[in-house]
Amino acid sequence: MSGPNSSYDPVQVTPLGEEQVFAMRDEALAAIAGAADVDALKQVRTDHAGDRSPLGLANREIGALPPQAKKDAGMRVGQARGAVNQALAARQEILEAEAEEQMLVTETVDVTLPWDRTPAGARHPITLMSERIADIFVAMGWEVAEGPLVEAEWLNFDALNLGADHPARTMQDTFWTEPAENHVVLRTHTSPVQARTMLTRTPPIYVVCPGRVFRTDEYDATHSPMFHQVEGLVIDEGITMAHLKGSLDHFAQAVFGEGITTRFRPSYFPFTEPSAEVDLICFVCRGSGVVDAGGSASVQCRTCRGEGWIEWGGCGVVNPRVLVACGVDPERYTGFAFGMGIDRTLMFRHGVGDLRSFFEGDVRFARAFGTEI
Ligand code: DAH
Repeated sequence: MSGPNSSYDPVQVTPLGEEQVFAMRDEALAAIAGAADVDALKQVRTDHAGDRSPLGLANREIGALPPQAKKDAGMRVGQARGAVNQALAARQEILEAEAEEQMLVTETVDVTLPWDRTPAGARHPITLMSERIADIFVAMGWEVAEGPLVEAEWLNFDALNLGADHPARTMQDTFWTEPAENHVVLRTHTSPVQARTMLTRTPPIYVVCPGRVFRTDEYDATHSPMFHQVEGLVIDEGITMAHLKGSLDHFAQAVFGEGITTRFRPSYFPFTEPSAEVDLICFVCRGSGVVDAGGSASVQCRTCRGEGWIEWGGCGVVNPRVLVACGVDPERYTGFAFGMGIDRTLMFRHGVGDLRSFFEGDVRFARAFGTEI
């Protein structure tokens, strides 16, 4: 920086003379006009309007000039800097507007373009329902239990108090594997998972088990040699039928909607005592058996065939003989169990008339249930 001058010598202040200042200004203005985008302009601002730019340095020089020179140079440099700053602001505005316009163009989505036409497929409605049911129970703190499809006869029948003379053990219902002396079956229900769970875990037990089961049924609109069930099992201290009823009511509401309750009808299952058939109040007619047909007319409800209730599955208090067979102390623990068909649940929930629709692999059928992943 120059030292203070005692007298005004125009020769000494040439760097701040009109020509130089105008040249700095013009150079800056040219650079501003030439900045192609906001980033480039930022650099121009540093180079031509920053503290270390020619005009910035010139500004610093002013202080060292004698009064008259200071006034002249101050005015010139001030005006030049003002012009540069104004040009910077104007250019900034233009470039920002351009950038925005550019973004609108490049980020435009042409909704008329053809999309990827490869069909995404659909998850199977039975898979979706099984997962949904599992989620309902997991949300209550239960666990999901699994067992093999090819099962020991003892677990499928004996452990569940199904004596050797029980009709379900005859060749009509059960797929036996060979050789017969191995006593291995395709599980006829998900109930052997109850036995497996009690044998491998210690109470408290809260499990739900959706899965495939097999029976030697004809393949028709309401039967299939392979279908799906969901089993529930609770073993804990002080468990009663009231806990069973509450759990099933919650299950019913979660699947069929608010206000959908269950009722028990006395029944018999070897693995529960007492046992009950569980019915669901019809979610279409809400128990009345009839639906509005316009005006004051009403017709029989098709979903429950006028019954007002829909058969859903079996349930009961776990038979102490089962607890003993599976190593659970019946003096300390009680429990409940239930089992229902998943395919059947889907059929009446969605008005599916033919069970075979689930097994024919037509993705158009599956897609109607949604394609959620
Ligand atoms: N296992 C029975 C069946 O396949 C269904 C069932 C009934 C399961 C009562 C249970 C139960 O757990 O308590 O028909």
